[in-house]
Amino acid sequence: MVEIRRFCEVDRPALRALFGRAGEGAPTASLWGHEESEAAIYLTPYMDLEPESLFVAVVDGELVGYLTGSLGTAVPPENARMERAIREHRLLLRRRSAAFFARSLRDVAGATVRRQPAAGELHDPRWPAHLHINLLPQARGTGAAAGLMDAWSARLRETGTPGCYLQTLVENRRATRFFERVGFVAHGPAPAVPGLRYEGGRVHQLTMVRPAA
Ligand SMILES: CC(C)(COP(=O)(O)OP(=O)(O)OC[C@H]1O[C@@H](n2cnc3c(N)ncnc32)[C@H](O)[C@@H]1OP(=O)(O)O)[C@@H](O)C(=O)NCCC(=O)NCCS
Repeated sequence: MVEIRRFCEVDRPALRALFGRAGEGAPTASLWGHEESEAAIYLTPYMDLEPESLFVAVVDGELVGYLTGSLGTAVPPENARMERAIREHRLLLRRRSAAFFARSLRDVAGATVRRQPAAGELHDPRWPAHLHINLLPQARGTGAAAGLMDAWSARLRETGTPGCYLQTLVENRRATRFFERVGFVAHGPAPAVPGLRYEGGRVHQLTMVRPAA
């Protein structure tokens, strides 16, 4: 049986440990190969600044998945979080992460020259909220993801938030099918993500939106 509940402060170490494993197999499983700084961008701010929008899935007392949400203002923009992590974790002095960011710069320059749309967060008052969701492989296909999404939808309704967006990859078919099933639809262009490669190829950011109702 999967229990879905809100994050509590005592979950912090287990959730941080889960962060390193829950994305396994997805094209975004590792970005620049430095888990601590990736957690500083995609997990810690949500635990610190908006714990009431963070939900966990639990089986036999163990965390098996989570959904980090933000209604829109408490968690700083992704770029700001990334710049801070680059600085604080000295990512440009680490070989693997420096290579990732150098490739990112080349990708951005190439896209600019070709006048292609840039990847980035959505800023649209119709969908001010956003989420990230990740489950351990053994929790996939169990209904845990739908349970987390129900808890998040209730939070959006309670707070009168008009809508929510998320960003995934076109290449993450399992995720996109799940999001479509729970009512998200694709929105806008699908630009190549700077720096990121999956199975040797470029991957494309897919923004999806859903009204709260
Ligand atoms: C994305 C995620 C939350 C979805 O939860 P889930 O429990 O796996 O969802 P489901 O089991 O309902 O599967 C979703 C769909 O993918 C299909 N699917 C199952 N295995 C698949 C696979 N290997 N490849 C493609 N599709 C697959 C399912 O049949 C289902 O499609 P359907 O609704 O048409 O039947 C979960 O897979 C996960 O955490 N993945 C790893 C991290 C990740 O990708 N997070 C999202 C980043 S934006």
